[in-house]
Amino acid sequence: MNWVRIEEVPAHAGEEVELRGWLYRRTGKGKLHFLQVRDGSGIIQCVAVKGELDDAGFELAGRLSQESSLVVRGVVREDRRSPLGFELGVTGLELIHEALDYPISPKEHGTAFLLEHRHLWLRSRRQQAILRVRSEVIRQCRSYLDERGFLLVDSPILTPAACEGTTTLFETDYFGEPAFLTQSGQLYAEAAAMAFGKVYCLGPTFRAEKSKTRRHLTEFWMLEPEAAFMDLEGDMELAEDLVEAVVQKTIENRRAELSTLGRDLARLAAVRKPFPRVSYDEAVFMLNQGGFAKSWGEDFGAEEETWLANQFERPIMVHRYPAQIKAFYMKRDPERPQLALCVDMLAPEGYGEIIGGGQREDDLAALEKRIAAHHLPAAAFSWYLDLRRSGSVPHAGFGMGIERVVAWLCGIAHVRETIPFPRLLGKIHP
Ligand code: 4AD
Ligand code: MG
Repeated sequence: MNWVRIEEVPAHAGEEVELRGWLYRRTGKGKLHFLQVRDGSGIIQCVAVKGELDDAGFELAGRLSQESSLVVRGVVREDRRSPLGFELGVTGLELIHEALDYPISPKEHGTAFLLEHRHLWLRSRRQQAILRVRSEVIRQCRSYLDERGFLLVDSPILTPAACEGTTTLFETDYFGEPAFLTQSGQLYAEAAAMAFGKVYCLGPTFRAEKSKTRRHLTEFWMLEPEAAFMDLEGDMELAEDLVEAVVQKTIENRRAELSTLGRDLARLAAVRKPFPRVSYDEAVFMLNQGGFAKSWGEDFGAEEETWLANQFERPIMVHRYPAQIKAFYMKRDPERPQLALCVDMLAPEGYGEIIGGGQREDDLAALEKRIAAHHLPAAAFSWYLDLRRSGSVPHAGFGMGIERVVAWLCGIAHVRETIPFPRLLGKIHP
């Protein structure tokens, strides 16, 4: 018989098909059992009626435990009430493996319990919707850049130097030498941009974040485009164009998942460029008008970012922060050297910073001075300085946090559900 995935069922109306999957829920009694069967591509209701399948099959349908694996055969029938539009009239049922005491029942569980059972929690409807959105976001990021001539150049995970300051480094022993898990692929992406012009890297990055917040993971994925001969303005245009494209394509392709999550799609549909550009100076002014006592020179806290972003419908791009609160590699604004030519994109609805980036310091002497001022080990950066000795050009790029974007698109409170196996402060299992 024809084995099909549940998502393909609508193309087989009236036919007898075979499904292979797991029992999601079971209801009914007497002469009728309703089995909700899932196979990873969807969920379908399978109706077992006494007499329409053999007695052994019918008896099995009445006692199958949640998450038992099974093969079910039946006739595809239209059913307007179901989300799929179809149900299956069962003609045969076969048990593959009987699940023992599956711990996640349809009742409510606490998040700590669910996180401990993340390996099983992935099977639930909401988690599947979130991870499908994640997969789509990554696909859209990649195709956006691939289609525009950016080359994927992966950066290493084990590195000898810090990119984003030394306070959040995970250190490991590399054959007797200290090494660190990468905080960002940027420095390597810069080298690749000098080789290929336009590049990006996409991979896991690590930060020993010692605070528990809704926005921080210790292992998260970052998309980092980098381009030669691009300035801050070009960087902001790329960032808003990428975000608009990713958001709009994701709504188009993952509408069902987003509605499973109860997402207000009108808010996402409004994500159209141009995004407001707000200078750091203006942001400080707005915050003070809004009742925050903010002095010039301080970084913004989560609450302040949320308030700022809430003044707008779309993501905003806050640019030109004081150089003193930003990383060593940022180019200074020639018009006001106390400012860095950088940008942070803040998502609406309290999702905070989804992008950080800017124009890079391309002058050798300035960069040497900055590395010393940040007390960074000069030897570990000598290769990076070579880039400024060998046809240095203006260049820029940014890093987009995949989990923050997914949390925003899904409308969920915490980034921990946006990655298959989250790594958080004090949490590495499963
Ligand atoms: O602003 P960040 O620290 O920028 C960089 O690492 C640059 N080197 C990137 C570049 O220019 N190529 O991080 C970039 C983004 C943030 O805007 C945020 O979305 C995300 O990465 N991010 C995190 N996401 C989850 N958990 C964390 N602990 C994160 N830290 C940063
Ligand atoms: Mg940042």
